[in-house]
Amino acid sequence: MLGKNAKLFFGVSMCVLIAAIVLATWGFPKIVQSQINKNLRLENSSAMFEKWRVMPIPLTFKVYVFNVINAEDVNEGAKPILNEIGPYVYKEYREKRILGYGENDTIRYMLKKTFYFDKEASGNLTQDDDVTVINYTYLAALLTVHELMPSAVGLVNSALGSFFTNLTDPFLRVKTRDLFFDGIFLNCAGENSALSLVCGKIKSDKPPNMRLTEDGNGFYFSMFNHLNTTESGPYNMVRGTENIQELGHIVAYNDLTTMRQWGDPYCGQLNGSDGSIFPPMNLGPPERVYIYEPEICRSLYISLVGERNIFNISAYLYEMDESALASKLYNPDNKCFCKKNWSANHDGCLLMGLLNLGPCKGAPALASLPHFYLGSEELLEYFDGGLSPNKDKHESYAYLDATTGVVLKGAQRLQFNIELRNMKAVPQLENVLTGVFPMMWIEEGAEIPADLREELHQAHTLLGYVEAVRWALLGLAILLCVAAAACVSRAGLSPCKRHHSSVSFILRPGNNFDVNKGQ
Ligand SMILES: *[C@@H]1O[C@H](CO)[C@@H](O)[C@H](O)[C@H]1NC(C)=O
Ligand SMILES: *[C@@H]1O[C@H](CO)[C@@H](O)[C@H](O)[C@H]1NC(C)=O
Ligand SMILES: *[C@@H]1O[C@H](CO)[C@@H](O)[C@H](O)[C@H]1NC(C)=O
Ligand SMILES: *[C@@H]1O[C@H](CO)[C@@H](O)[C@H](O)[C@H]1NC(C)=O
Ligand SMILES: *[C@@H]1O[C@H](CO)[C@@H](O)[C@H](O)[C@H]1NC(C)=O
Ligand SMILES: *[C@@H]1O[C@H](CO)[C@@H](O)[C@H](O)[C@H]1NC(C)=O
Ligand SMILES: *[C@@H]1O[C@H](CO)[C@@H](O)[C@H](O)[C@H]1NC(C)=O
Ligand SMILES: *[C@@H]1O[C@H](CO)[C@@H](O)[C@H](O)[C@H]1NC(C)=O
Ligand SMILES: *[C@@H]1O[C@H](CO)[C@@H](O)[C@H](O)[C@H]1NC(C)=O
Repeated sequence: MLGKNAKLFFGVSMCVLIAAIVLATWGFPKIVQSQINKNLRLENSSAMFEKWRVMPIPLTFKVYVFNVINAEDVNEGAKPILNEIGPYVYKEYREKRILGYGENDTIRYMLKKTFYFDKEASGNLTQDDDVTVINYTYLAALLTVHELMPSAVGLVNSALGSFFTNLTDPFLRVKTRDLFFDGIFLNCAGENSALSLVCGKIKSDKPPNMRLTEDGNGFYFSMFNHLNTTESGPYNMVRGTENIQELGHIVAYNDLTTMRQWGDPYCGQLNGSDGSIFPPMNLGPPERVYIYEPEICRSLYISLVGERNIFNISAYLYEMDESALASKLYNPDNKCFCKKNWSANHDGCLLMGLLNLGPCKGAPALASLPHFYLGSEELLEYFDGGLSPNKDKHESYAYLDATTGVVLKGAQRLQFNIELRNMKAVPQLENVLTGVFPMMWIEEGAEIPADLREELHQAHTLLGYVEAVRWALLGLAILLCVAAAACVSRAGLSPCKRHHSSVSFILRPGNNFDVNKGQ
């Protein structure tokens, strides 16, 4: 009887083992992953949805301005000396207005950012500080005219005298408040044909940085006002209910699935997410993750650096590397970003570390990493001091949770520049040296809020337990099997066998016969 039991025991334990193996290698991870996916994907019942819709804590938006110390000397042909002032810290709130669900598993929304000056974080810097920076609007107007009709530059410049007040040099003395948000007044009220030409062009082009005054007689120029409380979009983003690996991908912006600005299907690709959401990492961390930034009309990628521990949570660190803004010689893929000549000395993007924003903004502007980090040495040689690229201060990076892909901490940094060009026909520019002149750089930083961090921490702990249980189960099943196997094999030998045989001896018909015989 026990022999049968031993076999049964063995059989059952084999079944348990197989079940445990299936559970441990396939079932548990599957269950856990589907639970994670359920919490991540964008549907109104998921745990992340509200946090994705309204960011629970604001991003930190920091602005650093390049104050020109020796403006008078630069006018006479000296190399500029810069003095970085900052950070001016703003809180950036982000909120999405859901328009509905779209085809192909997408959600449609408008994005609204709101900025508030953060006095405490800005220390002794105030919005009323006076700075001297490169005069962006002035140079942009001249460079635009120069590109269209080089011979008309001198003429237009004198007309600009009434558009700009006190036109003495290519620098702008301004309060930071006006430069960043409130706006610098540009006067269009005047009887001047060149002036009405310039103003008419601005009115028809409607560049985002130019805000028409209420009476319609002029404009306010500012760097960031158009970002404040103005909705951008609509964005179409993949919700990940069908394929979680597609979660967060932006498939259309302004109802377009590619950007037209670069005039090239490759450079126009919308790749990746808005940087706030990524797919989970269960298939292992991807080598690159893409971020689409409508402000610069580009998809950029950050590359995997390695595994790191941050806030006591295991994470993958991604950093932007030099190939992103590389010259076309170094990264031929970038050549379609080099449509236009931005410089008297350089075609397209011969220099490392610059992105021509002309096609994107409809005005001459150049983006780079702060202090020309990862850029060409040549860019730094133009200055007599004030720039010192530094990895820690100037790179862009993100720490993504190793399981869920949630952003634990990240910073995106970008510098805005314009070319200061020597133009003999323009008295204000006849002696200056030609070079790429930085105006300011910004950092948008995010960190996961403490409560969410705690939640993730608990989830990781729980996952640790689940993992332990999974292996313990497998271990137990194996032990059980070994025990059963031992029992079965011993059934043919000692204690088990003796027991076994004595029992069968008693119950064997022959025994009865023997017993009867004995009687
Ligand atoms: C949740 O989404 C569904 C569509 O998937 C919609 O019908 C429903 O009204 C939404 N519920 C809320 C509370 O928004
Ligand atoms: C949905 O996907 C199909 C096939 O990939 C594509 O033809 C269609 O245009 C997509 N629809 C939208 C609205 O993007
Ligand atoms: C942004 O807009 C809001 C609402 O109009 C305003 O209260 C806030 O002061 C603006 N932010 C800045 C930095 O000007
Ligand atoms: C602001 O504070 C910094 C140190 O925190 C100091 O170096 C700087 O001189 C101060 N600036 C002004 C204008 O007080
Ligand atoms: C223009 O220059 C004059 C004299 O230098 C000065 O009084 C005036 O305030 C300046 N105007 C502006 C708008 O800077
Ligand atoms: C610089 O630009 C401002 C407006 O943006 C204008 O008022 C000022 O006169 C300009 N200065 C020069 C020298 O071009
Ligand atoms: C877009 O992503 C694909 C792969 O997903 C990549 O091959 C391509 O280079 C990316 N395009 C741009 C413009 O970065
Ligand atoms: C990190 O985790 C370990 C063990 O889980 C714990 O002992 C330690 O106190 C934690 N450190 C912080 C800073 O939370
Ligand atoms: C850009 O400038 C270079 C040299 O000035 C010239 O050879 C080239 O044809 C220009 N390219 C375009 C697209 O204008």
